[in-house]
Amino acid sequence: MKFLKLLLVLVVFQVQAQQGGMWIPSLLKGTNEKEMKALGMKISADAIYSANNSSLKDAVPHFDGGCTAEMISPKGLLLTNHHCGYDNIQSHSTVENDYLTNGFWAYKMEDELPNKDLTVTFIIKIEDVTTKIFEGVLNLPTESDKQKRIQQNIAAVSKSFQKEAWQDVMIRAFYDGNQYLLFVTENFKDVRLVGAPPSSIGKFGSDTDNWVWPRHTGDFSLFRVYADKNNRPAEYSKDNVPYQPKHFFPVSAKGIQENDFTMVMGYPGRTQEYLPSFAVEQIVNDLNPAKIEIRDAALKVQDGFMRKDNAIKIQYASKYAGVANYWKKWIGETKGLKKSNAVAIKQDFEKKFQERVNKAGKQEEYGTILADFEKNYKDIREYAIARDYFTEVVLRNSEILSFGYRLYQLEQVYNTRGEQAFNDRKNNLISGFEGLYKDYSAQVDEKVFEQLINLYATKSPKQFLPESLNNINASTLTTNIFSSSKLTNYNGLKEVLNGDAKSVLDKLNQDPAYQLVKSIAESYQKNVAPKSDEINLKNIALQRTYMKGIMEFFPNDRIFPDANSTLRVTYGKVKGYKPSDAVYYEPISYLDGVIEKYVPGDYEFDVPKKLIDLYNAKDYGRYADKNGKMPLGFIATNHTTGGNSGSPALDANGNLIGLNFDRVWEGTMSDIYYSPEICRNIMVDTRYILFVIDKFAGAKNLIEEMTIVYPKSQKTK
Ligand code: ARG
Ligand code: ASP
Repeated sequence: MKFLKLLLVLVVFQVQAQQGGMWIPSLLKGTNEKEMKALGMKISADAIYSANNSSLKDAVPHFDGGCTAEMISPKGLLLTNHHCGYDNIQSHSTVENDYLTNGFWAYKMEDELPNKDLTVTFIIKIEDVTTKIFEGVLNLPTESDKQKRIQQNIAAVSKSFQKEAWQDVMIRAFYDGNQYLLFVTENFKDVRLVGAPPSSIGKFGSDTDNWVWPRHTGDFSLFRVYADKNNRPAEYSKDNVPYQPKHFFPVSAKGIQENDFTMVMGYPGRTQEYLPSFAVEQIVNDLNPAKIEIRDAALKVQDGFMRKDNAIKIQYASKYAGVANYWKKWIGETKGLKKSNAVAIKQDFEKKFQERVNKAGKQEEYGTILADFEKNYKDIREYAIARDYFTEVVLRNSEILSFGYRLYQLEQVYNTRGEQAFNDRKNNLISGFEGLYKDYSAQVDEKVFEQLINLYATKSPKQFLPESLNNINASTLTTNIFSSSKLTNYNGLKEVLNGDAKSVLDKLNQDPAYQLVKSIAESYQKNVAPKSDEINLKNIALQRTYMKGIMEFFPNDRIFPDANSTLRVTYGKVKGYKPSDAVYYEPISYLDGVIEKYVPGDYEFDVPKKLIDLYNAKDYGRYADKNGKMPLGFIATNHTTGGNSGSPALDANGNLIGLNFDRVWEGTMSDIYYSPEICRNIMVDTRYILFVIDKFAGAKNLIEEMTIVYPKSQKTK
């Protein structure tokens, strides 16, 4: 009996230990395939990735460079998140015709809406080119020589690689530069909006519920990929036809249960799973708190205006969501790193690393890495804080400063590359700024500026500040700038940019907002950037060697490469979790939760009347579960990150069971330290998506072009 119990504990432990990681789809054979099968997968690694035959990867494009999407019909129908399509939905919206608020559905292909600048990229094949990229690198004396040579090799290999005329090639570093993979891609440029639920479904719970489980957001939208007559990428044209993908996912209406196998394919953006403890400590104690405080201030101001003024709400909705998203994530991440003792766990690991290095007699290659890291992170601390203040205040959250910074770069272009380059950049800026000012309110920005410039002047490391920020009175400075700068509106900006380089630069340099940005940027370039870049470069080199050492000394650990916006596969099980003492979260949410959270008229928790009616009538079509309830969301142990939004969640047979869109609050630390105990990804159940398309929107045209897999009991209905 005791023995059995022990065995059980061991088995459970092993299954748990086999989760986490973002794996390269072309390299699943072996360990990953075994683990996936042990977890319940019924298909083979070849069915997921094959360079020659159609495979699951052919249905999973990168969406707009930042999200993931999947093909769900033979006619190029594309599913992604509402928050991924948000900018495009917004760009077709006006106060009178507000698709964000009311939703949008194309009941005929002619009604689908083209999107300027929206692209969707498919992976054709993946090849290891590490040896070619390292040619002539290892004997070079300095890190920057090595980096230069690597860049040259990447350019040369990309150029000479055999591919079709309509394809592209890109090369990316894996394992901190220990491995290089080449991707052949096809980049589609005619992608049209097909459907989006109203925000009261697609963004239900908004920022209050963001990063939180239990969740009730129907976070999906639909697009269609168009191709030329040969099914190849083409610029937008009326004559383009729906793209026929090499694979599309059958959509499952069968539902899921706790402990079911799931896998997620997608394009995770960035993780830092192998940072040394010193770096994690700095994130927890210095960097996250600084960034959180800055965004906190900006968000409070914007929220105040958005709640009072509908035009401002439309202008700022997307920007606000973007800023709030990582603000909230950093708060959860900081808490999770503390609670899970990530720093202490890393320190333990580092002790073991050092022991193994010593035991193997490899001190020369690896012996000082950790001591060097420690020194570097100490040396870079103030510079790193200053860099985050600069990025968050000047580049990201004060609009007038970020506009000014682009103009500062324009002046640099003139100084380094002359009048012609200046004019080209200037014309680009004039057209680019038009969109930015369309969503700009000087009234909002003035209040944001006042808060942020005060934080910058009082809280960022003083030794790097320009004189213009010494002992300022934030409110006087703000009034001065906003009452006399030309940059507070588009016409003013065009006036400044009108004329030849000399006269433009004269006008710019008399503008008080410009003068301020320039002084901040110059002192940053002079006092912060060089030293920060220098130490960073050292850390990049160290991290590469450290990674190499980890692979060498921990050969039995499951070591996956950090996310780098390339296609990955992660797998696990549908599973609840225990966020805190005496609390357990179940893995599946239902439409009932929407009704529980309903606050009439609230901008986050309002519910469309039609949805309430369908709920009251229990009119769920063929999409209810076997108890007659409407499932909405679920969570699993898949290891995902930003960029995985819109990723397909697949069952053991490769059918689509969910659409990934978020992670749970307690597990947002997973970018730095993944724990299968509390890290969960959040998905919308495909049954809810089908229900909204079919019963809520009545878009039968879309349902008909999909292949839907119904449960046995429903087949006859
Ligand atoms: N947290 C999710 C992700 O990182 C969803 C973000 C969009 N939703 C929002 N309320 N801002 O992208
Ligand atoms: N919401 C994220 C995204 O947009 C996914 C995540 O961070 O879990 O990619």
